[in-house]
Amino acid sequence: MTTPALPPITPALMPTYARQPVAFVRGEGVWLWDTDGKRYLDTTAGIAVCGLGHANPIVAAAIADQAATLVHTSNLYRVPLQEELADLLCQVSGMQHAFFGNSGAEANEAAIKLARLHGHKKGIAVPTVIVMENSFHGRTMATLTATGNAKIQEGFGPLVEGFVRVPFDDLDAIRSVAAGNPNIVAILVEPIQGESGVRTAHNGFDYLKDLRAICDQRDWLLMVDEIQTGNGRTGQYFAYQHAGILPDVVSTAKGLGNGFPIGSTLVAGKAASLFSPGKHGTTYGGTPLGSRAALVTVQELLKGPIANAAAMGERIMQGFRDELGAYGVCVEGAGLMIGVILPVASAAPLVALAREAGVLLIVSAENRIRLLPPLIISEAESDELVHRISALVRDFLSAEGVVAA
Ligand SMILES: Cc1ncc(COP(=O)(O)O)c(C=O)c1O
Repeated sequence: MTTPALPPITPALMPTYARQPVAFVRGEGVWLWDTDGKRYLDTTAGIAVCGLGHANPIVAAAIADQAATLVHTSNLYRVPLQEELADLLCQVSGMQHAFFGNSGAEANEAAIKLARLHGHKKGIAVPTVIVMENSFHGRTMATLTATGNAKIQEGFGPLVEGFVRVPFDDLDAIRSVAAGNPNIVAILVEPIQGESGVRTAHNGFDYLKDLRAICDQRDWLLMVDEIQTGNGRTGQYFAYQHAGILPDVVSTAKGLGNGFPIGSTLVAGKAASLFSPGKHGTTYGGTPLGSRAALVTVQELLKGPIANAAAMGERIMQGFRDELGAYGVCVEGAGLMIGVILPVASAAPLVALAREAGVLLIVSAENRIRLLPPLIISEAESDELVHRISALVRDFLSAEGVVAA
């Protein structure tokens, strides 16, 4: 079966995305159906968003009920559902306060503003945040400046001042930047780099422990971007919990609303009391509808999908090692955030080949397949994912001249 023929995309839409020629009309769990009724195994979950799977009936019922009751009132007034969500997120994360916005980039914007307040409080005129090479933090001006990808920044200068970049997973680089720069006030880091293809530190989550120690020594904020790693994706609610540390600032979004757009910035410690009335805000932040969607999502995630992500992640990673190890394929990640790294210059053609075969996957950073399936994936579906993708990869590699050792 081939990909369905769709009419050309309307020129009325700004061409900001290189879209694949397929559209979906229905979803259920880890499965999607296109306009021709063809079924796909979805290893993308809307780019790490639909952790509870597509069309989760409990989330759908909560959204429908809330939409029929009260959608929006504004932050001029108290929003009990927003307070309930903040209580739950603080309880789950160990953080002290939550701010709600609508996306990941906004959650990071709030983090960057907090870093600046922290710096100004200490009398630093140009507060500077350490950010990493190959990072991704969003597309607003400050977050694209923080992002470690020249292609994303190209054409948008002048960029925002107050950032300094070091390689990911390199503590010495941080120490040497610190030695020559008294303006540093914070580190912004992804526990696992997602957009650049699931890159982990050499010592895994202990990297965060090391960063925590450096920040403590220097009175910097440790700001952890959990937009992709959070909400159960790596097998803990937040990835920093694997390291047993508490950041000063946590940004999250994506999986928080299972597809309903909501983001949050959580604060603790030195960052806990930096924002006061008037310092930050957004019209739609934490509406009754968004808060209800996120509340039910977090409650459902805590009932089992996070433990499932840990178990299925191990199963899938081992499955790929068994099926593809002989081809020089490496596997990296945690929980259901998995990178499958192929020994070729580019794995990009696999996206279309897999789609034709009824599997949706992402290829990042040339040769890294990035797998982010819903956290509710079953054992049978996990095995199917491994077998189907391994068969595709073997065919692709032999066409590229790569043979098993
Ligand atoms: C780690 C990380 N930070 C920030 C963002 C930006 O989030 P959003 O697209 O919701 O603005 C993303 C999105 O991919 C991300 O993966």
